[in-house]
Amino acid sequence: MALDVATVRKDFPIYEARKPFVFLDSAASSQKPRAVIDAMTAYYETSHANVHRGVYGLAEEATALYEGARARVARFVNAPQAKEILFSKNVTESLNLVAQSWGRAHLGPGDAIVLTEMEHHANIVPWQILQAQIGFEIRWIPVTPDGKLDLSDLDRLLDGAKLLSFTGVSNVLGTINPVRQLTDAAHAAGALAVVDGAQYTPHVATDVQALGADLFAFTGHKMLGPTGIGVLWGNEALLESMPPFLGGGGMIRDVRKDGFLPDELPHKFEAGTPPIAEAVGLAVACDELDRYDMGEVRAHEVAVTGYALDTLRERFAGDVVVHGPADPASRGGVLSFTFKDLHPHDVTQVLDEHGVCVRAGHHCAKPLMRCLEVGAVVRASFYIYNDEADVDALADALQRCAEFFG
Ligand SMILES: Cc1ncc(COP(=O)(O)O)c(C=O)c1O
Repeated sequence: MALDVATVRKDFPIYEARKPFVFLDSAASSQKPRAVIDAMTAYYETSHANVHRGVYGLAEEATALYEGARARVARFVNAPQAKEILFSKNVTESLNLVAQSWGRAHLGPGDAIVLTEMEHHANIVPWQILQAQIGFEIRWIPVTPDGKLDLSDLDRLLDGAKLLSFTGVSNVLGTINPVRQLTDAAHAAGALAVVDGAQYTPHVATDVQALGADLFAFTGHKMLGPTGIGVLWGNEALLESMPPFLGGGGMIRDVRKDGFLPDELPHKFEAGTPPIAEAVGLAVACDELDRYDMGEVRAHEVAVTGYALDTLRERFAGDVVVHGPADPASRGGVLSFTFKDLHPHDVTQVLDEHGVCVRAGHHCAKPLMRCLEVGAVVRASFYIYNDEADVDALADALQRCAEFFG
């Protein structure tokens, strides 16, 4: 293992509070290190005031912490400027922002956008809402039987399209998509490239400039940070050209009875009181991930996922069908499977009775479920605090499950 899990777990209070604890659901939301929890508590205990409004010292201190967090997040993803980092509630809100701001301004009847069949609903439904409002075509990049994007017809799909929006890593299949190849293809076709980085940034070192996306969204709670904060990065010129999404306080330069003037970046896109403590926590989560080192995080995940693939194959052979690429180096730490002919919810319930937390369902990817011809799957997902013993516990619990259901 690239990381020493016993040492890592000492940073996570939940491993002290719950014993035994086999947590295999980090793709839904990761656990939080003490450093993140402490930073947020300290902020509330000593430094809280609303930001960007007060001229007293405490408010200025809170503003400095909030804007410092923005700069830290910018550094984490190699964004050229802090003002290009917009804080939102989560990836879902970031992608709704893209659809309602950029999409509403640029799309209409006769236009087309391209999505993929492996998208999370967060990168489907915002476009479908807009489609119902203004009308345009949605084209779909298909998924191959081994769980990769079928790019054989990409040029035709992109022909005349105005936008390509796709996930960096599938939350069901674990597939790591060829982000740079796709952003290049979008640009060659004259389309905007948008990346849903919800499952990418927590696991793969993210350099938004090298990836070539125009807009890149990610979320705090899957990368050791708190819930309630998401990010949208975009380059300055593009964000400047986009109209505001949500309106209210904090995002205006002036308001008169006949209209308003939006504020400068990033405030134009941050209406209302922002997630201040959450930004402070997210900045510390970036520190923590850098301390573990994103290269090591990724190597650790490949090792655990490889061990899990081997273990399930060896112990359950034909009884387990794993979805997604066979090679652990082409996938993130997500392992979705079906077990015998059992319903995933039944499997998950028995696993829970044996102390193993995994998730079952459609994982907010119903179009993908239809491609896979399943209604639901069991998903185990790994992060820096998981090791082979967790995988063994999963396999042992699956064995109990097989015995229970005969
Ligand atoms: C690929 C992907 N996109 C988007 C989301 C939505 O994230 P959030 O709930 O933080 O908005 C998720 C969450 O599971 C995801 O896995």
